Amino acid sequence: MSRSAILPRSAPFAAEDIAGLNAIFARATGDQRAWLAGFLAGVDAAQREAPAPASASLARTKLTILYATESGHTEALAHAAQREAARRGFAARVLDMADTPAIALREAANVMVIASTWGEGEPPQRAAPFIRALQAEDAPRLDGVRFAVLALGDSAYPQYCAVGKRLDARLEALGGIRVAERIDCDLDYEAPAASFIERVLAALGPPADAGSVIHVDFHRTDGAAAGQPERFAAPVAVRHPLSSSRSDRETWHLELDLTGSGLAYEPGDALGLLPRNDPALAESVLAATGLAGDDAARDALVRERDISTLSAKLIADYAAISGDERVLALAADETARTDFLAGRHAIDLFEAFPFRLTAPQLLRLLRKLPVRHYSIASSQKVVGEAAHLAIAKVAYRSAGRPRTGVASGLVAERLAVGDTLPIQVKPNPHFRLPADPRAPIVMIGAGTGIAPYRAFLQERESIGALGKSWLIFGHRRFTHDFLYQLDLQGWLKSGVLGEIDLAFSRDQPEKRYVQHVLWDRRDALRGLLAEGATLYLCGDAGSMAREVDATLVRILGQPAVDALITAGRYRKDVY
Ligand SMILES: Cc1cc2nc3c(=O)[nH]c(=O)nc-3n(C[C@H](O)[C@H](O)[C@H](O)COP(=O)(O)OP(=O)(O)OC[C@H]3O[C@@H](n4cnc5c(N)ncnc54)[C@H](O)[C@@H]3O)c2cc1C
Ligand SMILES: Cc1cc2nc3c(=O)[nH]c(=O)nc-3n(C[C@H](O)[C@H](O)[C@H](O)COP(=O)(O)O)c2cc1C
Repeated sequence: MSRSAILPRSAPFAAEDIAGLNAIFARATGDQRAWLAGFLAGVDAAQREAPAPASASLARTKLTILYATESGHTEALAHAAQREAARRGFAARVLDMADTPAIALREAANVMVIASTWGEGEPPQRAAPFIRALQAEDAPRLDGVRFAVLALGDSAYPQYCAVGKRLDARLEALGGIRVAERIDCDLDYEAPAASFIERVLAALGPPADAGSVIHVDFHRTDGAAAGQPERFAAPVAVRHPLSSSRSDRETWHLELDLTGSGLAYEPGDALGLLPRNDPALAESVLAATGLAGDDAARDALVRERDISTLSAKLIADYAAISGDERVLALAADETARTDFLAGRHAIDLFEAFPFRLTAPQLLRLLRKLPVRHYSIASSQKVVGEAAHLAIAKVAYRSAGRPRTGVASGLVAERLAVGDTLPIQVKPNPHFRLPADPRAPIVMIGAGTGIAPYRAFLQERESIGALGKSWLIFGHRRFTHDFLYQLDLQGWLKSGVLGEIDLAFSRDQPEKRYVQHVLWDRRDALRGLLAEGATLYLCGDAGSMAREVDATLVRILGQPAVDALITAGRYRKDVY
């Protein structure tokens, strides 16, 4: 064989490659050829021995992460799960139930569902059509679809994680195969959610690299607040009553100073406010648990712990710590426990079954103090570095005691101008004005449900929006509860607000609510919807939202209401 023709013409290469390689080999020294031979043999051996990377073996493992959200928690978790799944080589996509037809599930091989519960055990409103379709008799069969459900909720609600529970059962009934047990998460959902994601991904594919830890970046949202500071201590600049002193629904107007915070918000957004507990209640909890006079514990209870909510979990944990037979029996008996929970708070448990705790035990027993949300009642175009809120005091009696809401009680009873409140902006991208300022809007609200509409109207006034606007506002009495009456009358006069209809329920013998106005004026409603109006509903998630929904269905039919929701033309901010 001549040095110029090392590779024969029969070598498995193209003719021009054989020529090119022979040209290189012809010039190469013996050492170079020997090195190349060894190098290529080594590369081949290494490739044969190395395990295939996870990403290669999983390249075709598809995962659908489907979320149902109202205020963005499950959405953030879904994106965190997607990031982790992608890191492990899954082809993962995130879908919002609000934009997904139920039939799409049939095409999915692996589904991770993350759903929250709202109202009184109801789905997030934009996800309602999807969930209804899944519950229907003609729901798609999901034979062989592998699924797992993560439920988000709040153990203070009797219908704890109800939507996640319903979805979990329904997916199985439709033929799905559960690959991991459902996890029900309370407001401290980060750790259990991370462990759920880990479990589901491990069940569907190989485990993560040793030592890998899932970091669920639950603060990350696609909303306007991304990149803003975590929490800002906002001084109270103005605080005055919005309702008359004779109102039985005391409501306060607050103006918070945001100077220097860099906080930005859009009309429709809310503020998350971290309240402080009543020090007197904290002292009672300390006394009932044998810790009276512990100043450090009192301070932690006031600022950090939820000292009012009584849940099944608190009863079970207290039973385990105290070993009290009666509490153990209560924890074990669902009927007795449900009876005991009704209308009672944590203090009632501690006082009924006293037990001496250490301060760390007490602090561990109580969950983190949850943030309260308030719709912002101002537009930054008008108020600049400030945010206005309308807060109704929660006050009632139960189990023989007077009770006051943690945050609203603070605002109504103990807050003074100059005090600070830790706040953050909670973007609400699903409750925004239409992009086109000429589009008509219909705003339906009761009580503090007026708050975001004040922001809408301030905004529309400042930009000179010409679209038609119609407000249907309800409360108890004209003379005591006509919140922001002067603002609204001013806007009516200037034309910023086209029409207003009022429903004061207690001003006449028969109750009159916003849904009655809606029904009486159904032709006007149909007319504005035909002109492309967006419909808004804000306020009480209980009977008001249910009755307004039912009335809309009566006027327009369920398919038309679902179509409005899907098109983003029926937006709710109910609580
Ligand atoms: C997006 C959003 C926007 C909101 N906007 C506003 C707003 O603009 N203005 C506003 O005032 N609120 C608003 N809220 C409600 C607000 O977040 C709080 O839930 C409310 O102020 C009560 O908080 P609290 O700390 O005072 O009461 P909590 O200490 O949280 O106590 C409230 C709890 O007390 C119990 N309770 C209340 N009344 C009774 C009763 N009669 N009988 C028995 N139990 C009862 C219920 O379990 C209730 O959940 C909004 C909520 C959300 C989610
Ligand atoms: C007005 C309101 C009603 C709620 N109702 C329930 C409920 O009935 N059951 C429950 O478990 N959680 C309930 N929650 C708690 C939410 O499910 C919880 O805050 C969850 O983290 C929200 O997730 P999301 O932001 O993805 O919607 C409610 C919360 C609010 C503000």
